[in-house]
Amino acid sequence: MTRIRIHVPACALALVAAVAVLATGCGSAGNKEKAGVEKIDYGKTREGVPIEQYILRNAHGMVIKVITYGATLTDVRVPDRDGKMASVVLGFDSLDGYLGTEPYFGATVGRVANRIAAGRFDLNGRTYTLATNNGPNHLHGGLRGFDKVVWHAALHPSGGEPSVTFEYLSRDGEEGYPGNLSVSVTYTLTSQNEIKLDYSATTDKTTPLNLTNHAYFNLAGEGAGTILDHELTIAADQFTPVDAGLIPTGQVVPVGGTPMDFTTPIRVGARITQVPGAAPGGYDHNYVLRPHTGLTFAARLQDPASGRELDVFTTEPGVQFYSGNFLDGTIRGRSGIPYGQHAALCLETQHFPDGVHHASFPSTILEPGQRFASRTIYRFSVR
Ligand code: BGC
Repeated sequence: MTRIRIHVPACALALVAAVAVLATGCGSAGNKEKAGVEKIDYGKTREGVPIEQYILRNAHGMVIKVITYGATLTDVRVPDRDGKMASVVLGFDSLDGYLGTEPYFGATVGRVANRIAAGRFDLNGRTYTLATNNGPNHLHGGLRGFDKVVWHAALHPSGGEPSVTFEYLSRDGEEGYPGNLSVSVTYTLTSQNEIKLDYSATTDKTTPLNLTNHAYFNLAGEGAGTILDHELTIAADQFTPVDAGLIPTGQVVPVGGTPMDFTTPIRVGARITQVPGAAPGGYDHNYVLRPHTGLTFAARLQDPASGRELDVFTTEPGVQFYSGNFLDGTIRGRSGIPYGQHAALCLETQHFPDGVHHASFPSTILEPGQRFASRTIYRFSVR
């Protein structure tokens, strides 16, 4: 495979934006010169469609990698408290891994993230039938959700910070959904070691929409054991219980006094075997973030051993805490080490699952003429 490298330094982006060159560290010595975006030929899908990888670096040496297949975040490399770099998300080093069966590692998920009961919903007097790919239910957009399509990448200046936008047109009827949906997600790597995700969408027919990123985090490093000793805080006093098929019952229940309570930092593994309900093997629940407008603190994940810390901020009303319950060791990622149960966890910022069936949940309906906009930030630090 030919690998074409086009280096687009952050300073060039800043110049386009007429932003002060100094802001990017362009022209100065050391790590700062490496800040920018690099585009690499990443092979072809089985249908022969070329896939690109974008490598974003900031002045602190943090690196993220994103591919046009599924607008997927394939790698995140951050230092520990001694400055030692590690890859802190599950994933593969080549396209093949993503083309096979894998549980949405780092993918952009849509048109509707999580489950829609029975793969069916009524809207404006019509019943829509969706692809069912999780028992009788629809999961993460169906058989060919946004994680399995090829997005178009565009480099836009973003105040001098390395940034790439992925765009996709989801056609009317795709996986059963109504309306042509123009959707985009912009990944920006900020100088505060943040991955900033900006989602946007418009439609020409009323449609449900719920977008998220499905990164699996292990702050000790991908392949380095489980996340059971990570400490987690979630800024939520309530969660939405689920039935045996992991479909919300519609209730919104306090976490207080239960193993679901992460309002103060606690080891993920401390009460994982006592998780109520049917979720097999641990947490797989939507947490109801405290009422907010704009960006709010959603969660903090800490790894006491490495000192790495992840703070999650979002404009979304909920976050799905999934403790990697269905990972069963059959997949080997970039380290070559099998990903067993709890090898990583997801903090998927989102609207509540199955919102289309629950009038009391925040609406997931997008109307023609409206623009959906949503932001999530994953901020990395050490302590
Ligand atoms: C869901 C899990 C599902 C996983 C797929 C999560 O968002 O909540 O139930 O198994 O995605 O990898």
